[in-house]
Amino acid sequence: MSTSRLAGFKDLSVAQRRELVAAHAGADALSVFDPHSGLGLEQADHMIENVVGVLGVPLGVATNFTVNGRDVLVPMATEEPSVVAAASNAARIARVRGGFTTSSTDPIMQAQVQIVDVADPEAARLRLLEARQELIALADQQDPRLVEFGGGVRDLVVRLVDSRVQRYVVAHLVVDVRDAMGANAVNTMAEAIAERAAQIAGGRPLLRILTNKADLRLARARAVFDAESVGGAEVVADIVHAAALAEADPYRAATHNKGIMNGITAVVLATGNDTRAVEAGAHSHAIGPDGRYTALSRFEQDVDGNLVGTLELPMAVGLVGGATKVHPVAQRAVQVLGVSTAAELAEIITAVGLAQNFAAVRALATEGIQRGHMSLHARNVAVAAGATDAELAAVVARLVGDKAVRADHAEKVLGELRAEAGR
Ligand code: MEV
Repeated sequence: MSTSRLAGFKDLSVAQRRELVAAHAGADALSVFDPHSGLGLEQADHMIENVVGVLGVPLGVATNFTVNGRDVLVPMATEEPSVVAAASNAARIARVRGGFTTSSTDPIMQAQVQIVDVADPEAARLRLLEARQELIALADQQDPRLVEFGGGVRDLVVRLVDSRVQRYVVAHLVVDVRDAMGANAVNTMAEAIAERAAQIAGGRPLLRILTNKADLRLARARAVFDAESVGGAEVVADIVHAAALAEADPYRAATHNKGIMNGITAVVLATGNDTRAVEAGAHSHAIGPDGRYTALSRFEQDVDGNLVGTLELPMAVGLVGGATKVHPVAQRAVQVLGVSTAAELAEIITAVGLAQNFAAVRALATEGIQRGHMSLHARNVAVAAGATDAELAAVVARLVGDKAVRADHAEKVLGELRAEAGR
């Protein structure tokens, strides 16, 4: 696509925005984004059990993102007002100094096999490691296609975990899952090797499941936020203060990280990926070396006085298998992103997380989030009170102006406007 800098995008109609996105992303018509032509009941019925319907969630597109020099429009599914606007705004500031630079590890997932009732855990560990090749070959046999595509088991790691009941032998299969999220692949492998591994260890196999602490599958994003565009040296310094509190205080860290996840979960959901897996990975990664829950991102001032933001976290997302391949909206969302590997997707998602985090912390360090948030929230309140498209702008302006974004006030304002119009 040419440029993601689409000034005035928010002021267009839905149809105009859609046309622009389709044209810029080289995608076909995006009519699949219509509520009645998205996920059908029949498809939904194949996806989960006991289906009675589908849930609509607004799908927006964040503008202004440049990731590794490529402009990209980012589909985001969220029910929260301000999120898409804030990400776009942060990306606009980031692009002043080149946008986001990203990187990632190989797409390595791990599965655990718990072995219980082992008499000699230390020796069992070594016996398992001696059988490394045999166990790896057994696991690889489960997924010849993955191996064909350059993936497959990379290692066998054996840990001894002391619990309140006993010392468990826990074997980890370390697997390159290529463009899959990988849960199915590694779970199948873990189940396949469990009996043999337990036999070698001299115990009984119990749990055989992936770990969502996907700390060998990290994605990273970095951006320089131009000091002047951020609001000046004082704002930069205050953002560093805000980030430092999040590093030091778990109460603040939880909210700081929630801000990151506002962006991340929205893209993960839009692309049909497993939001809970990514969230579990993120929060497990937020435990620092001292065992305390801390901020996932860092903000510093560079030598030129600009703000540098960085984010690194597990990002278990895929493009093959799962809902991404089945859900029509997710397929189109991936097409809009223009990504062809899971790594590219993971890195863009991480860039969005950083953008979202920067936007929230900047707002908090300056005017607070309520002003921007309230004008968007006011739209919801006005619509809920019954405002028509023609009445919306006037009702929103009154609610914000009166600093009373409440249902009762919206009804009162609407009544007054209608009375005036009737006169
Ligand atoms: C609200 O959804 C997210 C924030 O609370 C994040 C933060 O405090 O950094 C604004």
